[in-house]
Amino acid sequence: MFQSWTIEGIDRLGLGLSRCRNGHSIVDEQSERQIRQLRVRTVAVTSEGRAGTPSRRTVLAGTALAAFSGSEPGSALAPEGLHEAARSKGLTYGSAVNITPLRRDPAYGRAIGRECGLVVPENEMKMIYAWPEPGRQAFAGGDETLAFAKANGQRLRGTTLVWHNALPDWAKARIERREAEALMRRWIGLIAGRYRGRIESWDVVNEIIRPEDGRGDGLRRTPWLDAIGPGYVDLAFAILRETDPRAAGLWNEDDLEMSAGWVDARRTAVLEKLARLKARNVPIRRFGLQGHLNSTIPFDPEALRRFLGEVASMGYAIEITEFDVDDRAFPADVALRDAKVADLARRFLDVVLDEPAVLNVTTWDITNANSWLNTSPQRRRPDGLPQRALPLDEAYRRTPLWLAMRRAFTDAPDHRTARARLRLG
Ligand code: G3I
Repeated sequence: MFQSWTIEGIDRLGLGLSRCRNGHSIVDEQSERQIRQLRVRTVAVTSEGRAGTPSRRTVLAGTALAAFSGSEPGSALAPEGLHEAARSKGLTYGSAVNITPLRRDPAYGRAIGRECGLVVPENEMKMIYAWPEPGRQAFAGGDETLAFAKANGQRLRGTTLVWHNALPDWAKARIERREAEALMRRWIGLIAGRYRGRIESWDVVNEIIRPEDGRGDGLRRTPWLDAIGPGYVDLAFAILRETDPRAAGLWNEDDLEMSAGWVDARRTAVLEKLARLKARNVPIRRFGLQGHLNSTIPFDPEALRRFLGEVASMGYAIEITEFDVDDRAFPADVALRDAKVADLARRFLDVVLDEPAVLNVTTWDITNANSWLNTSPQRRRPDGLPQRALPLDEAYRRTPLWLAMRRAFTDAPDHRTARARLRLG
């Protein structure tokens, strides 16, 4: 019962407390103290006829209430960032970094520096940016991201070597002319060679499953598949292994988190493909669950738990590579919306962090100001309001999602033993 009253309680309290709401949805140490007191009141309000012991999700009530607790924006910076909380459990928290604000806004770099132990260039190491024309390579953005990571003592994940998206037209034409294998060798040699020894893991293949395309193996029809056949996946991992043996080869995949028949089909296709790759000793070391949560689709924790367990049982390490929450089906009211975002995130993270094979949790940027959910027209909310998908708001203030993430990290089981075994494996 205790687990199920939190949201009900939040909604009831949200209505009851709206009088003292001041519009801020930030969380600081003082707020946390208030939250702890408010949590007691939450129990008082919601415990009519019910009793319970606070669970890992008790914070949800507090998370929502933080939105109503009236902290001042200037006090939003507790010293400990998300990565510190993750690191205490042998985990890493990181973020995608967008090169435009990194160049223009020092506060953006400070926020990423404060919160993150790992960064991923959101776009700069994709082929269309790094090799836009046959005779022109452009590594400045990747180099700057690497320099930033080094300056902040952060690790770097690279994305993405082989993808159907972010391919320049000239490269598509070469792939169609059956020069695909030579191009793949040249491209991976170039980019993974440039950053050899500096990348912890590379997204080697990205978003390769699409059962709707009608193939028995569930593979997405892409220019790479058409030119090389299903062995293009094996080839890409083998080339990375030759180019940078220390970088962990990672298969990054989307739409596996929520609960729907079409998601089940994707999970099945992924597990079957992972088993075949393992049987052939393809040098894939990690599986990347993107973690784009979606408020329009139900979430089934047990189905996700089973899926992660099966991936781990094959010996793969797991990274959450692009975590955020698409809030378009949640209410417009910022405080209620933040509460629902934090609740969904916490339920997801509790399952994910229970799996010992999980090494890293990376959000897809850190501030709502830069979320692809706000820049991509197809992802905007129908009411036109900006999405609140990430742990910092537009002014770099920590949101209830930030607090839910921090609590998920601090309440997580210790991952250090599994990490030592899997990280370099
Ligand atoms: O830089 C140009 C800018 O000059 C121009 O004015 C503007 C007009 O649309 O476009 C800008 O480029 C855009 C770029 O993002 C930078 O904002 C591209 O059109 C746009 O296609 C590109 O989208 C990126 C997308 O991947 C495709 O590469 C998103 O930023 C990035 O967040 C997104 O990330 C993907 C992951 O790699 C894989 N998983 C899904 C995730 C979200 O789509």
